[in-house]
Amino acid sequence: MAEQTSSRPFYRRQPGGELYCGGVSLEPVAKRFGTPLYVYSADQIAERLGMFQRALAGLDHLVCYAVKANSALAILKLLAKRGAGFDIVSGGELERVLAAAPEAAGRVVFSGVGKTIAEIDAGLKAGILAFNVESEAELALLAARARKLGIRARFALRVNPDVFADTHPYISTGMREHKFGIDIKRARMIYKHAAGDRWLEAHGVSVHIGSQIRSADPFGAAIERVSKLVTQLKGDGIALKAIDAGGGLGIDYHDGSFDAAAKVEEYAEALIRALGDFEGQLQIEPGRFLVGQAGALVARVLYVKRNGNKTFVITDAAMNDLIRPALYQAHHEIVSVRPRTGKACVVDVVGPVCESGDFFARDRKLPPLEPGDLVALLDAGAYGMAQSSNYNSRLRAAEVLVEGAKARLIRRRETIGDLLATEQL
Ligand code: LLP
Repeated sequence: MAEQTSSRPFYRRQPGGELYCGGVSLEPVAKRFGTPLYVYSADQIAERLGMFQRALAGLDHLVCYAVKANSALAILKLLAKRGAGFDIVSGGELERVLAAAPEAAGRVVFSGVGKTIAEIDAGLKAGILAFNVESEAELALLAARARKLGIRARFALRVNPDVFADTHPYISTGMREHKFGIDIKRARMIYKHAAGDRWLEAHGVSVHIGSQIRSADPFGAAIERVSKLVTQLKGDGIALKAIDAGGGLGIDYHDGSFDAAAKVEEYAEALIRALGDFEGQLQIEPGRFLVGQAGALVARVLYVKRNGNKTFVITDAAMNDLIRPALYQAHHEIVSVRPRTGKACVVDVVGPVCESGDFFARDRKLPPLEPGDLVALLDAGAYGMAQSSNYNSRLRAAEVLVEGAKARLIRRRETIGDLLATEQL
């Protein structure tokens, strides 16, 4: 069965038995906190962070969790406690890190192509590790704000290495036609120019080629190009302290027997090989790999309906809760929390939102489902809740963190009061 494997924390104690996360049975949890409900395994998140830390133990390194994947405060806190830094892309994400783990401010890198003055100022005042700068105009603004506040700015240029990574076009970022980064050929000149500004400190260089990349090769190729630049800069008298390899390592949304630890080792080896004799710090920015498989979206079946020869299973979760299938044609395994016996049927699993794009699975063969049954959409810990919305004026789901044998509410379900709070007549 897809879920009875090592890469997911969701499993059955006996074949055909109820679904658990860690020591917790999901049925009573769903009853207690309601559905749709995001459930995360704290143990798996910690375990995944440990995999990166161990694979990079031989060199100076910092794992900066990409907050955008899942910005729940409780998750940020548990990662910070284990030594993680953070990759942020907005002032809002900075505030989340400061709220969850103020001691981690010095381990924050700030990425993003459109930082505002207010966001730059907030980052400078918080004393973050580095700004990953995406344009010459941004670097000029950073220098001006640093001078104004009297706080020296550490920066890394985010270079665009022009490396192809095989992934969905919406989440590929490392080629010249993408909006991200600075052409690697111009970077040397920009560093040299910045060396004359006493408010700027060239801390490092960063790169991020995309997301959900399954092969280690493109990461190695990107770092090779970056390492060449670092060597040239050294010759110019500019000694960078860090190389930030970005995030992007993919998970297997289909096959639960995927060996996460082996994947991390392969990835780390590719990076280390490409670093050559670089002696500074290696930073990485994983998001999905740390939290994706740790989370499931638990939903209740509302109706089962037949239209012609199609069968629709309508759940109380919808595209506003998990938009990945609609947006990227992404695959998520769907399993029954308490499976029924009987013949599997081919069904579409859909939500109540008024769009045909509101589906979780199309023509999927699933064991029998009836109204009232609970299903779990697996591998939903990354870019699930983080990309949720109030579309159709639906209330955002609650979130639960499982630690050992305990399930703890880390975000209550939204109320109608929350929904209407920012508006006036
Ligand atoms: N660093 C930077 C600069 C990024 O832009 C991203 C993701 C990451 C790190 C983390 O990448 P990860 O390790 O999670 O692949 N919503 C899409 C994914 C968008 C990724 C955007 N950038 C999805 O649901 O697949």
